[in-house]
Amino acid sequence: MNDKPLEQTLVLIKPDALKNSITGFIFSQLSEFITGARFAGAKVVNVSRFLAAEHYIEHVGKPFYEPLLDYLAGAVHYPEDVRWKRRVIAIVYHGVGVRERLRTIAGPTNPHQAREEKPGCIRSLGTVVPIKDAAGNIIGNRMDNLIHTSATAEDAEREIKLWFLPFDIPPLMRGYPVTTCQSHYYYKAGRLYQTCEPDSVFLLAPGDPVWTSDLEILQDIAQNKPARGRLNAVVAKYMINRE
Ligand code: RTP
Ligand code: MG
Repeated sequence: MNDKPLEQTLVLIKPDALKNSITGFIFSQLSEFITGARFAGAKVVNVSRFLAAEHYIEHVGKPFYEPLLDYLAGAVHYPEDVRWKRRVIAIVYHGVGVRERLRTIAGPTNPHQAREEKPGCIRSLGTVVPIKDAAGNIIGNRMDNLIHTSATAEDAEREIKLWFLPFDIPPLMRGYPVTTCQSHYYYKAGRLYQTCEPDSVFLLAPGDPVWTSDLEILQDIAQNKPARGRLNAVVAKYMINRE
């Protein structure tokens, strides 16, 4: 008997993995036969800095933060003239004990350390690139490590809700409470609106399924109460792959 709980985790196949065509290898490593992890959701995402900034918000202010956003948004691996190639594959995997198992297969954060300690893990195929300041001094490292996997149950919930709408996941595979929206919501320049403003982004209409925790945040903001979470974290997924 396996006593680990049924859980979900977010995997991101990062732009360096796409550029180097090792997506097939990664999917094989993570396959249901090997890991017991089943697909619950998947999408190809042209990652905005807005989304990257929310995803890696715990690293704000660190020397590698801005280069990390450029990396996840694809700007490091694909130049201006092929912006359309700047993609990440985002996947929700579902299964018993999948978070820890997939993180183990991904390996240590630093690809040099991954090669030393766990040769053959996915990140052992990554690279480490020095980050320089304007004067050319090395101030840190950018770790191009091919794959993201959620670290904790709390991270997985935050990250899955950041990248995926309830609609993106089959109803029987949704891992978090969903409710039905009763109002209209729009977003523009850092603010929430309940009427359609010029150039605003449509978020939700009555009848739409919404993560319950997202709706609580929107209701708090609409009622001028202290919000139970960040507006940008709610909004980011509604802006994925929009012009
Ligand atoms: P990830 O979130 O991407 O799955 O990676 P992780 O849990 O193994 O590591 P985390 O600490 O969450 O870091 C997120 C990403 O930031 C870059 N990083 N650079 N130079 C550094 O000291 C450093 N530390 C982290 C890596 O690209 C890492 O994947
Ligand atoms: Mg992490």
